[in-house]
Amino acid sequence: MKQKIQDILTGIVEQFKKDNLIPQDSNVRVMIENTKDKKNGDYATNLAMLLAKPMKKKPQEIASLIVNSIPVSNEITKVEIAGPGFINFFVSKNYLAAQVEAILSDDHLGVKVTDKPETVVIDYSSPNVAKEMAVHHIRSTVIGDAVVRILEFLGHKVIRANHIGDWGTQFGMLIAYLEKKENENASNLELSDLEAFYREAKKCYESDEEFAVKARGYVVKLQSGDEYCLKMWKKLVNITMVQNQEIYNRLNISLTEKDIMGESLYNPMLKPLVEDLVNKNLAVKDDGAMVVYLKSFADKDGNPRCVIVQKKDGGFLYTTTDIACTKYRCETLGANRIICFADSRQHEHLMMSWEIARLAGYVPEGVVLEHGAFGMMLGKDGKPFKTRDGGTVKLKDLLNEAESRAAELISQRNNDLPDNLKDEVIKTVAMGAVKYADLSKNRTTDYVFDWDNMLTFEGNTAPYLQYAYSRIQSIFKKAGEAKPGKIVITTPEEEALAQQFVKFNEVVNNAANKIAPHIICTYVYELAGLFMRFYEACPINKDEVAEDVKASRLALCKAASSIIKTGLNMLGINVLDRM
Ligand code: ARG
Repeated sequence: MKQKIQDILTGIVEQFKKDNLIPQDSNVRVMIENTKDKKNGDYATNLAMLLAKPMKKKPQEIASLIVNSIPVSNEITKVEIAGPGFINFFVSKNYLAAQVEAILSDDHLGVKVTDKPETVVIDYSSPNVAKEMAVHHIRSTVIGDAVVRILEFLGHKVIRANHIGDWGTQFGMLIAYLEKKENENASNLELSDLEAFYREAKKCYESDEEFAVKARGYVVKLQSGDEYCLKMWKKLVNITMVQNQEIYNRLNISLTEKDIMGESLYNPMLKPLVEDLVNKNLAVKDDGAMVVYLKSFADKDGNPRCVIVQKKDGGFLYTTTDIACTKYRCETLGANRIICFADSRQHEHLMMSWEIARLAGYVPEGVVLEHGAFGMMLGKDGKPFKTRDGGTVKLKDLLNEAESRAAELISQRNNDLPDNLKDEVIKTVAMGAVKYADLSKNRTTDYVFDWDNMLTFEGNTAPYLQYAYSRIQSIFKKAGEAKPGKIVITTPEEEALAQQFVKFNEVVNNAANKIAPHIICTYVYELAGLFMRFYEACPINKDEVAEDVKASRLALCKAASSIIKTGLNMLGINVLDRM
């Protein structure tokens, strides 16, 4: 409907131009708002005010010109001029009901599949080998996966890229340490604590000269493709990724082994890449290293920024890999859009890598490169989220704690869930709560991780929404034989709820364009609130409710439950029929 009104008004502006009421070159943007107070209709526009200047007329005068040009239809029941020249549109309740019925009969719930499908590479999660997933990886994993699902829902081709840190000089020391461990304890390799493994390897490297010499040797050997070193390297990658995969599975993250496109993939491309940069006069030798001078990153005195792409010793850098990876994603994967979910401290690094890739001509025109930056996760004290003794919080421990807290929350509720179901409820609530807490915040700002605010049935939380869903399921159960039927909207609560359903398409598109899953969270949360108000005001399973009214209300329940479920699923969060 919003689009329809938009089209009508755009047509009127065009007509005004034809009639020379406004200059041909004037650029007016027709904007339609969803009204907050339904007394002012369903939609409103300030178009008359915007036209006042170019038309040299009073807004109210223009508003009545516009209103008179709006064609009569049975969708818009009334158009009103309000205040200084706002125009309010009242949409027919029958039309609204028909829209909800259309949503119900559409397996995409009114969300249109794009007619311009793009190939979108989404770089997310991207943990480092032989390290525990750190807090910024949780955010990247959860937000990235939600965006993957949203874009797929809209019909785009999404390529998941888990850009794991699986290459670099640290592998010499890691291989040497793995070898030492294997020799000490040949049959039973305990690597569950990756953080400790890395720490110990580093300790050996720093304190044991013999070990360090061996480790450095392994770096060279690994670089030159030595079979033994490659085998040991692969083992480290596998051990890490098997553990990470367990976490992905627990969190319902859609990444699998085949999505791994780590730094090592680009290693063979780095040497020819630097050569190409030299041939294109982008990279130059500077004090033995190969560097690119970027004018667009000049300091305040106008000195271009010097970016190293190959070190004096021949080694390549994180930036070199990201340039190669951008080239690969454009040329080999055919990306139209690349979104990289990495924390905001990597912003400059990404911008410089992409600038070099663009200057080298690796990024075709029109390809959009975006940094899905996010803020930090903070503890309740407002400081970066850490364990009590200042260490990294292991994601595994965090998820375990979420489950034990969810178990407590569920046990406080008096319910007769059978034990086998209880376990599923606890897991679904726990994972949903952790993910939702992250997704519901504005992506770019820091946020405070607070158990008490996420694991509760009150407020904008996953448990609240999951509960709203399961409550609707019990309404259906109670309704027994009665089924959803033709929708007739009579009460303001029904109308407000139906209006919310109609917005779903716009909301999902908005979230996709802005890479902002929290837009979907806010929407689903509002929907659940409107549903609760509707449910209080409009009885369904009471004897006095007429059959057709009941059928209509059940249809509204159906739409609410389908949208809550689809919305949450799009965020990677599951719902439960009973909880
Ligand atoms: N492995 C990196 C880290 O742990 C994140 C990688 C992000 N992606 C990229 N293409 N640089 O911070």
